[in-house]
Amino acid sequence: MIKISLSILAGDFAKLGNDVEMLQKNGADMIHLDIMDGNFVPQITFGARMVSALRKHTILPLDVHLMIENPGKHIKDFAEAGSDIITFHAEAADNKRKILNQIKSFGLKAGISLKPDTKIAEISDVINICDLVLIMTVEPGKGGQDLIPKTLDKIKKLRKLAPNLDIQVDGGLNDDTIKPLLDAGANIIVAGSYIFNAEDRKAQIDKLKNK
Ligand code: DX5
Ligand code: ZN
Repeated sequence: MIKISLSILAGDFAKLGNDVEMLQKNGADMIHLDIMDGNFVPQITFGARMVSALRKHTILPLDVHLMIENPGKHIKDFAEAGSDIITFHAEAADNKRKILNQIKSFGLKAGISLKPDTKIAEISDVINICDLVLIMTVEPGKGGQDLIPKTLDKIKKLRKLAPNLDIQVDGGLNDDTIKPLLDAGANIIVAGSYIFNAEDRKAQIDKLKNK
């Protein structure tokens, strides 16, 4: 089944609680929270205290995408803040297996994210213990970028390798890219500016749900 995880990165940072409520009311399956530390990516967004504040505004799963160095150091904080899913970047992790198990020890779903240039081979030894894999379809750090076409082949390859895995895709979703992403085998779709830049956000979410 296809799920939509809606990112608040393009929302109003002074009113993220309202944005989360709006997304839940209009049919999001989960809320995607982009954590950036100014090191792994140049930008800084917010941390575990924001996750904990937003937890009070929704019953939907909080899908936390860590774009941070040394992710293992921060898992406990994000888990205790009320995350349901945590993905961290393979490129930032010294011991992927250990961090996956750390996330799972809190009863959460655990996943690894891959930047566009990172090969699936980097995670071949741990795919069997991942609840999901997040394939970045743009360079991490900003919303509103164009999808990098070569990432579609990576999704296809991963789907072939792991027919039952949850494959999440993140970045550059629009009316033209949704079909190729689904055809390639993605089943969790992150959408940010596709929703927030639309005049009628509800209609835009409905459109996505009916794809
Ligand atoms: C980018 C973030 C994305 C971002 C996607 O680093 O990981 O989740 O919100 O934004 P759009 O959908 O605008 O490409
Ligand atoms: Zn993201």
